[in-house]
Amino acid sequence: MHLMTNRLTLCRPDDWHLHLRDGAMLAAVAPHSARLGRAIIMPNLVPPVVTGADAAAYRDRIRAALPAGAPLQPLMTLYLTETTDPADVVASHRDGIIAAVKLYPAGATTNSASGVRDFDRVRPVFEAMAAAGIPLCVHGEVTDPEVDIFDREAVFIDRVLDPIRRATPGLRVVMEHVTTREGVDYVRANDAIGATITTHHLVINRNAILAGGIRPHYYCLPVAKRETHRLALRAAATSGDPRFFSGTDSAPHPDRAKESACGCAGCFTAPNWLPIVAQVFEEEAALDRLEQFVSLNGATFYGYPANEDRITLVRRADPAGAPAEIRADQDRVTVFDPGFPLHWHVEDPA
Ligand code: NCD
Ligand code: ZN
Repeated sequence: MHLMTNRLTLCRPDDWHLHLRDGAMLAAVAPHSARLGRAIIMPNLVPPVVTGADAAAYRDRIRAALPAGAPLQPLMTLYLTETTDPADVVASHRDGIIAAVKLYPAGATTNSASGVRDFDRVRPVFEAMAAAGIPLCVHGEVTDPEVDIFDREAVFIDRVLDPIRRATPGLRVVMEHVTTREGVDYVRANDAIGATITTHHLVINRNAILAGGIRPHYYCLPVAKRETHRLALRAAATSGDPRFFSGTDSAPHPDRAKESACGCAGCFTAPNWLPIVAQVFEEEAALDRLEQFVSLNGATFYGYPANEDRITLVRRADPAGAPAEIRADQDRVTVFDPGFPLHWHVEDPA
């Protein structure tokens, strides 16, 4: 497949990092991810999803919010706290209620106040997970105020992630939303580790947030870094290396919460992520590896078969029509604008 390709058929894609929220926001955003095969659902609700029972109840609320017949299978996660019970984690995984556990350092990002402060206190959970083969999804940023926000991922690797992995051999780790060359290099150099790469980090660098005015809809965590890092992410995503896979980190917030003196972190990419990612792969002359990134590598890492059904992407002159915003009750939620027209249209027989 080359630049002239204008039609691509792929196994139905998955999303290995997705925020669907709850209540009115869940109802508004779930239809935009309904045509995925599977999605890893992040547990940072208020209060967070901490037990297997919480996860089962949240899964049922998600199913109820999906259109009838939607293919999406939500794969639930638990929010790791210092009081998480290893036996509940193992039982929930064995019973098919959860697919993974999410580690948020306390205070690192939106709704992470119940996260982990002392990593030694969760060592028994890590050991039980390693023994049972349960993946740990990691938000890889230190929260030390002395560390510059643009360095927090690289410092996390040295201070937290590498020590955890050395202390718990065999623990399968997903570095979520990797944003730096250091993160990409760490994943490449190690076994039993994978990484999600978001849509927006393939498209924007930090100038999008800060140059010529402050643009809150491009602010997310980990924050977008300088251009060299964006290029490293594009190289990793398009390389075909099976350890890198698509996780949108689609993170909807009401506009009033983002367009504020203290705007919150998160880009809402669910409605247009696939046309954007296809365009990125086209620009990198890597359309022949798109299916690995969006449909195959993540499933392999998590131990699932590829989805059996297929979707088709068609490149047309007319731009694909993702909405600029959606409504959730009284709220507006702005959709991520990549800054270029999208020409890849999704045709889905389902
Ligand atoms: C996420 C959110 O809003 O829940 N925000 C973000 O900027 N990515 C939290 C997260 O994944 O860090
Ligand atoms: Zn996230």
